[in-house]
Amino acid sequence: MNLDAVRNDFPFFQETSNGKPIIYLDSACQSLRPRSVVEAMNEYYLRYPACSGRSYHKLASQVTQKCDEARSQMARFLGAAKKEEIIFTRNTTEGINLVANSLDLKSGDAVLIGGKEHNSNLIPWQMLVKKKGIQLKILPPREDGEFDLANYEKLLDESVKLVSLGYSSNLDGVTIPAEQVIRLAHRNGSMVLLDAAQAAPHRKINVRALDVDFLVLSGHKMLGPSGSGVLYGKASRLDALSPFLVGGDTVANSTYESCEFLPVPERFEAGLQDYAGIIGLGEASRYLQAVGFDFIQKQELLLNQAVNEGIKNIDGLKLIGPADPSRRGGITTFYIEGIDSHRVAIMLDQMANVCVRSGQHCVHSWFNAHNIKGSVRSSVYFYNTLSEVEIFVDNLKKIRKVL
Ligand SMILES: Cc1ncc(COP(=O)(O)O)c(C=O)c1O
Repeated sequence: MNLDAVRNDFPFFQETSNGKPIIYLDSACQSLRPRSVVEAMNEYYLRYPACSGRSYHKLASQVTQKCDEARSQMARFLGAAKKEEIIFTRNTTEGINLVANSLDLKSGDAVLIGGKEHNSNLIPWQMLVKKKGIQLKILPPREDGEFDLANYEKLLDESVKLVSLGYSSNLDGVTIPAEQVIRLAHRNGSMVLLDAAQAAPHRKINVRALDVDFLVLSGHKMLGPSGSGVLYGKASRLDALSPFLVGGDTVANSTYESCEFLPVPERFEAGLQDYAGIIGLGEASRYLQAVGFDFIQKQELLLNQAVNEGIKNIDGLKLIGPADPSRRGGITTFYIEGIDSHRVAIMLDQMANVCVRSGQHCVHSWFNAHNIKGSVRSSVYFYNTLSEVEIFVDNLKKIRKVL
């Protein structure tokens, strides 16, 4: 695999603004999409735009078959034991809400989460504190942003029914030692949910080797369509969940008084689905496998090292997370005391078409706890180049001089 060939697969790189290329360093929010993903989705809309699993005509059979193939592909991508362990969702947020609202958690049961979780892995549990009287235990990261194994072990007690953690952080890119975390949780009798929104695009995941109970991801961060996602669950765990969203396509039969739910995964995929999204997500995961995670990680490291090196002497710049870029995937998050992060992001965009994220990245809780107003986050992916990084760094330096 080489970078030119990869970039050729992404029509976006032909786009310009004010005669200059657009430099997309916001892939932790949403990745770009290769042509093949868009084509797979278009094919659905143009050639067999029907409904899966309801009608008996040939178009419907084709949709059913394509969605089935996408499910099998996602099962392979994640190393699941069978395709029925893959539930299609709209995103990571929906996956976590599904688990939160379907698990039989009772008053006094505890859910343990990290101290820099995305709101999507915080708010659903906060709601259960209010609704059911569960306890929410928070494990702060170490000072350097790394996972605090020693305190984790201390917090794991018999009240903890579920450990729900971001596999890789969208704040600082740090990846937790998932195998160890899961082993310790299981030894304690706790289930584990991994929020893999930021991990699935960047590392090979094998849910069976991890022995994880639940894992959620978003398609749009891993080259897939917007509003596509997956909840993986071990078959035994999914069977024990009660349905969350119910209605059409979740039941085999109903009377005015009762209904008979379909088996997993249909039971959890209520209403007409985003078929193009499901098919596109299958293609995205196939494309990622074809590129290979070795290439992806090598390229990300090269780029993130260059970002690190480029920004290290900028006056007053404070990095969030470990100093070593190899611990941060494609992410570099920083702030400069007294300078509004949104202003920096807008200037980067206006001066050089550099797209980065600014603000609190849906981790308001961490920013509030640290009394930091906001930050700028660059997130490179395997399709970015060193010259793009250079333009970002040069313009950041120019901005620092005038702010
Ligand atoms: C770590 C993490 N978890 C959850 C989410 C929520 O993802 P989505 O908005 O696709 O549901 C994100 C999105 O940025 C994320 O980075």
